[in-house]
Amino acid sequence: MDAKQKLYPATFNPLLIKPSRPLPTEIAIIGAGTIGPDIGYYLKSALPSIKLYLVDIAAGPLKNAETRIIDYTEKAVDKKKMKPDKAAAVRQNIVYTTDYGEIKDCALVIEAATEDIPLKQKIFESIENIVGEDTIITSNTSSIPADRLFSKMKKPQRTTVTHFFAPAWRSLPVEVIAWEGGSRETLDYLFWFFAKTGKAPIITDNAICFMLDRIFDNWCNEAAYMLNRATASQIDKVAESFVFAGPFFVLNLANGNPIIIETNTLQMEEGAHYQPAPILASVDRWLTHRPGAPVTVPEEFSNVIKDRLLAILFSQSFDIIDRGIGIKEDLNLGCQIALGFRKGPFDIMQDLGETEVSRIMEKFQKERPGFPVPMRPYAEYQDFKRHIIVDHRDDVMIITLRRPQALNALNDEMTDEILAVFRENIDNPVVKGFVLTGYGTTAFSAGADIGKFPEMLGNREASIRFAKDCAKVQLFMDQMDKPVVAALNGMALGGGLEIAIRCHSMVAIRNATLQFPEISLGILPAIGGCVVPYRKWPQGAKLFHEMICLGKPIAAQEAAGIGMISEMADDYLSLIRAAVAEVHRLQGQIKRIPPKKIDIPEISIPEEATVPAGRLSKEAVDIAWKTVQKAAAAENLSDALKIGYEGFGEIACTDAANEGVSAFLEKRKPEFKK
Ligand code: COA
Repeated sequence: MDAKQKLYPATFNPLLIKPSRPLPTEIAIIGAGTIGPDIGYYLKSALPSIKLYLVDIAAGPLKNAETRIIDYTEKAVDKKKMKPDKAAAVRQNIVYTTDYGEIKDCALVIEAATEDIPLKQKIFESIENIVGEDTIITSNTSSIPADRLFSKMKKPQRTTVTHFFAPAWRSLPVEVIAWEGGSRETLDYLFWFFAKTGKAPIITDNAICFMLDRIFDNWCNEAAYMLNRATASQIDKVAESFVFAGPFFVLNLANGNPIIIETNTLQMEEGAHYQPAPILASVDRWLTHRPGAPVTVPEEFSNVIKDRLLAILFSQSFDIIDRGIGIKEDLNLGCQIALGFRKGPFDIMQDLGETEVSRIMEKFQKERPGFPVPMRPYAEYQDFKRHIIVDHRDDVMIITLRRPQALNALNDEMTDEILAVFRENIDNPVVKGFVLTGYGTTAFSAGADIGKFPEMLGNREASIRFAKDCAKVQLFMDQMDKPVVAALNGMALGGGLEIAIRCHSMVAIRNATLQFPEISLGILPAIGGCVVPYRKWPQGAKLFHEMICLGKPIAAQEAAGIGMISEMADDYLSLIRAAVAEVHRLQGQIKRIPPKKIDIPEISIPEEATVPAGRLSKEAVDIAWKTVQKAAAAENLSDALKIGYEGFGEIACTDAANEGVSAFLEKRKPEFKK
């Protein structure tokens, strides 16, 4: 069976699951070492009202865990990532205990103890004797297959592995393991639960080291094998072309040498080639540099190291896909968001091309015989969508924007993928329409990917071209006969809002917000944002002025008041249901954007316009307002849209744009000139 169907038989977007039980009110974590308290902090941040039990056999680690959690909340408040009252709620209701008896009412218990099978089995036996019949019990092991931990339990159906990545409070992915003894109900519930609480769960098969640790462990192990050719620092430097921090730097951070020895010894069940590098057992800390520091690596070394590192990465990636341990979409994303790869392995292969990948693999086979090689044509590994996921609900396709690391910010690859789904299904009689939604519970989309802006700022023509390129999917929707409905599951900002308003209808979750924050970056919404709202909902013109020129956010309720949103929903699933119903209602009823010019009211712009982040640039506000006015006066839609693209070309060459975008990327407040 196809791995995707096996791992995701019902849904790929976890929030399309109807949970079989409510959110837990009491959760326990066993083990107060490093990762246990971090998991606890994530849970309390996502669900501040729960009662959390941190259990350990010794009081010392519990005390340290308490200090750590308090410290996290204080830092979060200092950085304005958390309000003080929420921080207080996070700290409250945590029971630090050595008494297992306390966890009896927990609906979920996560074990995060030492990687020792007999010890873990003993812990699970104790837990099972204390908690209720329906309590879900999971292990955070990074390598031990679920059957070796849970097979002897009285009720293994309610167990599985849920594998977090460091730092567990912030790192988005959680591997949830599909194993034959665990029930689908448990798996689906956990898949939903992690997404609901802000994680990006992925389902993997029950192989040794699951999916992402197979990459990480072998990447580090192979680096250690190369120490006879180069220093740890040189190897890290070469690795930095592909990851934010080299393997030895990460091993130092995590005290990881014993872990690699353990996990690679386990993998030796699959062949002797997985043997841990002997040097891992004799070194405590590696002599290496901080990521980004200058290190010279002679080219002849650099090429050798690069080939080997890529070869192990590719070999493991091919194997994971060929054996159905995970799927391409998750592997590519997971390497980036869990392991800090700059690009996914399949993206790196795509950049290198088939000939170069084959060369690297052939060389590797000679140097390291036994390691997996690709079992299918190269093109098959490239054939998947990187930034969206697609589910079917009866006759409607649900397209979910999935870039959780950037609040689903849009890039051109993502819009190309959306466009491709539309095109592929435009003549498919089974598909009646599409729903566009965002992954997770925070954002529909936080706008265009600001990371791409510096490439074109200061270049008028390049900026206009960028805006036009981004507009391709919108222009396509303008003439589609199959309805596209935006389901706003959270904030819809900037380019995200521009794609949503171009859909044929919008539904929103009650706490969704709509905003054009571009002006606070010193730019303007170029992909129809200065044009389309006025023509579709002229009654909202005054509000749109404030949104575009002053960055005012509006709540979904307010947007519904001026007719932008056709229905509000209380939760994700109801939102999708409402969107699907809207697709059905709109059959043959799509209203086109009125093409004619429109009269718009004046706006009074304060001399010193401000947003919470500070003063706005007067120069940018003037260009935005001029663009809105000119676009309103344009005789047809196409001319109006062109005025928007050109307005972007103009604003992109200002100091304001340069300062606003730089400030965002440098994580500081912009200082616009008066
Ligand atoms: N483009 C690229 N990355 C974006 C992004 C965007 N439009 N919006 C958010 N991100 C990234 C952040 O840089 C951050 O990445 P990091 O974890 O690597 O630092 C991640 O998404 C999470 O965002 P963060 O800012 O930490 O979350 P927050 O909850 O504190 O703030 C927002 C949320 C939406 C207020 C803030 O991210 C923001 O202002 N984004 C830009 C919105 C915007 O101006 N959009 C219009 C662009 S045209």
